[in-house]
Amino acid sequence: MTLADVDTVLGIELEVQAYPWTRGNFIDALNCGYSCRVDEEDCEMRAYAVLRPVMDEAELLNIGVSAQQQRKGLGRAMLQEMLALAREKNMHRVFLEVRASNTAALALYRSAGFSEIGMRRGYYKNAGLNEDAITMACELTPLKPISEER
Ligand SMILES: CC(C)(COP(=O)(O)OP(=O)(O)OC[C@H]1O[C@@H](n2cnc3c(N)ncnc32)[C@H](O)[C@@H]1OP(=O)(O)O)[C@@H](O)C(=O)NCCC(=O)NCCS
Repeated sequence: MTLADVDTVLGIELEVQAYPWTRGNFIDALNCGYSCRVDEEDCEMRAYAVLRPVMDEAELLNIGVSAQQQRKGLGRAMLQEMLALAREKNMHRVFLEVRASNTAALALYRSAGFSEIGMRRGYYKNAGLNEDAITMACELTPLKPISEER
């Protein structure tokens, strides 16, 4: 993701997220050097994700797939890309927060090896809404050095 992508990403964000990031949130993530990825095909932005390094762990801060491209495997592919990136950087664990009622995301994360490690009551508050966050974590198996694989 580059600064030039932000408006398009924001369009998807506003379309699909219950608690959307602002333009400033995406710009800050880019400026902070977080791993920000997009999936584009034939000039169509289809998906994006943002991963923040935290010491030897990483936090998946955002992931979204445009409404018309959902349920085609893009969310899983983007999540796998972010997990692979964390593994490459020798991170041990990826964690995230997800709305308790976000069944699609919960199913995606569970199927990718995340498990629930906690709950933050009333974490999401916006426009009169008030929802709990579930914290999830995925332990990463370190990449073996080539010498150990022989
Ligand atoms: C969550 C999200 C990223 C999933 O992306 P996607 O491309 O639609 O998902 P995929 O096609 O890769 O599906 C992967 C798995 O996710 C789960 N899943 C995805 N959409 C689902 C839905 N509507 N209902 C239930 N499970 C769903 C399924 O387990 C699915 O595996 P399956 O197809 O083998 O059943 C997408 O729905 C999205 O952008 N949602 C809005 C933004 C959001 O909630 N982001 C997460 C914030 S924590």
